[in-house]
Amino acid sequence: MCGIVGYIGPKEACPILINGLKRLEYRGYDSAGIALIHNNNIQVYKCKGRVQDLEHHMELEDTSATIGMGHTRWATHGEPNDANAHPHTSMNGLFSIVHNGIIENHALLKEKLQARGYSFQSETDTEVLANLIEYIYTKGQVNAENAVRLALTKVIGAYGLVVLCKNEPDQLVVARKGSPLVIGVGQSEYFVASDATPIVEYTKNVIYLNDDDVAILKRDEMILKTIKNTPVSLSIQQVDIDIEKIEKGGFPHFMLKEIFEQVNSIYDTIRGRVNAEASEIYLGGISEIIPKMVNAHRIIIIGCGTSWHAGTVGEYIFEEFTRIPVEVEYASEFRYRNPIVDANDIVIAISQSGETADTLAAIKYAKAHGATVIGICNVVGSSIARETDAGVYTHAGPEIGVASTKAFTAQISVLAMMALQIGHRKGTLSDELYKKYINELYNLPDKVKAILEKNDKIKEIAAIYKDSTNAIYLGRGCQFPVALEGALKLKEISYIHAEGYPAAEMKHGPIALIDENMPVFAIATNDNYYDKIVSNIKEIQSRKGHVIALVNDNDAQVKKLAEHVIEIPETLEYLSPLLNVIPLQLISYHIAVMRGCNVDMPRNLAKSVTVE
Ligand code: F6R
Repeated sequence: MCGIVGYIGPKEACPILINGLKRLEYRGYDSAGIALIHNNNIQVYKCKGRVQDLEHHMELEDTSATIGMGHTRWATHGEPNDANAHPHTSMNGLFSIVHNGIIENHALLKEKLQARGYSFQSETDTEVLANLIEYIYTKGQVNAENAVRLALTKVIGAYGLVVLCKNEPDQLVVARKGSPLVIGVGQSEYFVASDATPIVEYTKNVIYLNDDDVAILKRDEMILKTIKNTPVSLSIQQVDIDIEKIEKGGFPHFMLKEIFEQVNSIYDTIRGRVNAEASEIYLGGISEIIPKMVNAHRIIIIGCGTSWHAGTVGEYIFEEFTRIPVEVEYASEFRYRNPIVDANDIVIAISQSGETADTLAAIKYAKAHGATVIGICNVVGSSIARETDAGVYTHAGPEIGVASTKAFTAQISVLAMMALQIGHRKGTLSDELYKKYINELYNLPDKVKAILEKNDKIKEIAAIYKDSTNAIYLGRGCQFPVALEGALKLKEISYIHAEGYPAAEMKHGPIALIDENMPVFAIATNDNYYDKIVSNIKEIQSRKGHVIALVNDNDAQVKKLAEHVIEIPETLEYLSPLLNVIPLQLISYHIAVMRGCNVDMPRNLAKSVTVE
């Protein structure tokens, strides 16, 4: 959560910082702020609201400085207001800080500083850190870098931070523990940001900081060391992010663009990995671990939110093809509940951002207990990608809309490829079925296209149900997690209460909710459960619920029963979640737009949840 950006070099810093904050706004948008050093003075501009509010706020100011830092906030400590917005400046104005993460012992540190005469303007943990650095700088008579390092040895928690010092106006001090930071290396200039998206238009050369790294950025020099003052050598990598891909490309919202991109993102995820002619799947990132997976007695899949839903689809696919028992767990539960995990276990961690704090902590727990951990991440070089033993990237491209869409289908594509390869090697999946699935993977992009062509019809259905206050999503088998995902998409962007259920569970309680005001989205595409879901639809209708059903083109029964149907091209059962989720994404998108909601930045949410 929270986006950080910093710049030092020959150019004016402010436009670079504002531009960077706009790219990072998906990480939080409760407030925004910038600090610049001009004529040996720290100038701070900050306000509640979006980056564009900050721009208005700064309109008439002299912002010609060539060093500065910015922050866009997702509130953790203290409500979103001007005072709690970053940057935070120390009491005597010597230091200013932007921070992503949580200082867990801030209350204790604050008490100690108050006892030494420090007062506070905000409720944030970050202001405590700013004052702690200033206190150590003044009392210990050390330079800014040493003051930052010493202060960080007293801190428990997570941070990605940038520090400006009034008395040392030609440097940024940067530090990371638990919250991601990337340094961009230009010609006599350095950039720093929470991810590479604000940097790539200036330079492709980046350095990913590791936990406990401290970097000192000057115009002509970068020094990297650990918090304990041990030098660290610089390892410059090339990032390859297409700037076009992080712009909206003519769509009104990133979410809609990303839903439409699924034609390509599914293809990009399987391309080069699935060879239909040779009937082969090759996942280079885990090739050495495949034999261990083939012999595994258990697989544990961990993730949060939409990634957990993808993992739950993965459970159905893996168990069917490989006959290996699979457990799917919320990473947040797994990390704290003392789970039984050991060196015989394979853990698959799924995360779009690669930065989710709970997933990262669960990975560390699994590794510490000897498990082999495989990552499925979308962001190259992210913390989870680097923490796992091996992994397969989803090549979905940057996902900016806060509601995850194309990452979900890319994650399922990777899980399907893994399960197919392992099942075939193990002999639990026949040659014939293996080949059939491999061929069908390549048919998916056209089928996705066919669904997207129904966007206008889906929008009409959305218009009918836009004022609902509740909604229910039903699915069976591997459509159950799709129902959960459909419900999550609706609630997170339109603020309509929605629940997903395995359809047969309705009669064990939730059917009491059904009346003439309840829309029920039923996934009724052809599979083994078809007849069962037909009965479930009849149960809903006899209680006057409105059924909107997803059916295959050749459907015979549900088309006659349901109030509305959305036709989906037929595919193989365990690939059908990849298609069925798309109309549900579109329904949520249109309902949210019609209700006037900010679909790309829903309230209270952030794209990357780097706090627990
Ligand atoms: C919902 C959504 C979240 C994320 C969750 C995990 O649309 O985006 O539920 O799926 O916060 O994030 P990652 O996948 O980045 O670990």
